Amino acid sequence: MVSRIHAASSHVIPRVTVVGAGSVGNALAKRLIDQQLADVVLIDVVPGRPQGIALDLTQAGAIEGHTRQITGTNDYDDTANSDVVVVTAGLPRKPGMTRDDLALVNGPIVIETVRQAIARSPQAQFIIVTNPLDVMAYLAWQVSGLPHQQVMGMAGVLDSARFRTFIAMALNVPVTDVSALVLGGHGDLMVPLPNHATVSGIPLTELLDAATIQRLVQRTQHGGAEIVNLLKTGGAHYAPGASVYAMVAAILGDRHRILPAAAYLTGEYQLHDLFIGVPCKIGAQGVEAVLEVSLDQAQQAALHRSAEAVQRQVQRAMATLMPSPALALQP
Ligand code: 2OP
Repeated sequence: MVSRIHAASSHVIPRVTVVGAGSVGNALAKRLIDQQLADVVLIDVVPGRPQGIALDLTQAGAIEGHTRQITGTNDYDDTANSDVVVVTAGLPRKPGMTRDDLALVNGPIVIETVRQAIARSPQAQFIIVTNPLDVMAYLAWQVSGLPHQQVMGMAGVLDSARFRTFIAMALNVPVTDVSALVLGGHGDLMVPLPNHATVSGIPLTELLDAATIQRLVQRTQHGGAEIVNLLKTGGAHYAPGASVYAMVAAILGDRHRILPAAAYLTGEYQLHDLFIGVPCKIGAQGVEAVLEVSLDQAQQAALHRSAEAVQRQVQRAMATLMPSPALALQP
């Protein structure tokens, strides 16, 4: 009887594959399990690492009361039929590095993980986390063969969370009262939008002077590096993990949430053929819509500067890592 109940219940529990049992992947896996959102398959190339972390998280369930299954594996067959695949695998930055410095190292890792995962979960939504995020999302989409709506990058939720946090700290208010939006690439050229930020509906520009706002904007733009420099090895992982969780929950719950994410543009903001951070409506079908918010001339120019930087990196990565099929077919 128990096995039938288990079999019946296991059919309705969604499955999320987390590729990469590093600090971000582990933070995400723990949050998914703690919130009982899905069964989790944690996969990594390092023998034993995902298995050990999965066993540890399972044992935490004896105390914390979660009952979802978490499997640690080195075998992609164990990821089959996932509803969502999150790619966190790759190297983090070291102090002094930019995210772009990781492109040619992390690109092959993302290409291979997506190839392996898509073969076993062709219906999955893919969320890319590996840096440089906007470039990795483009490579993932290219190699997946999926409609672009099924591929997205996590960055805007994290960058907006940082902007909200810095605003809350400056005003000494709960961060839950603060709403803010960051667009653009996940790098120093990202575009926080102070004129779209509010605190309980009150425009930020009525609460803080321009110099203070500019200081918060700059701290947001360098939010990742600030933590990398403090930690010396590795980077942020709790806020990134929580940010990915919000996107996974929007997909699995078909919640149609408006969240900033790296999405493929087909003319929005006068941009084409790149993934970059924009407001998205996210639900069971992935990126259901890209929303165009009003930007002043300076913000539009800043977004295009960020997009040009992303496009340069994408062209470099595609030329190096995914030469044209004709080239690949040449003897
Ligand atoms: C960050 O901004 C890891 O890119 C991520 O911390």
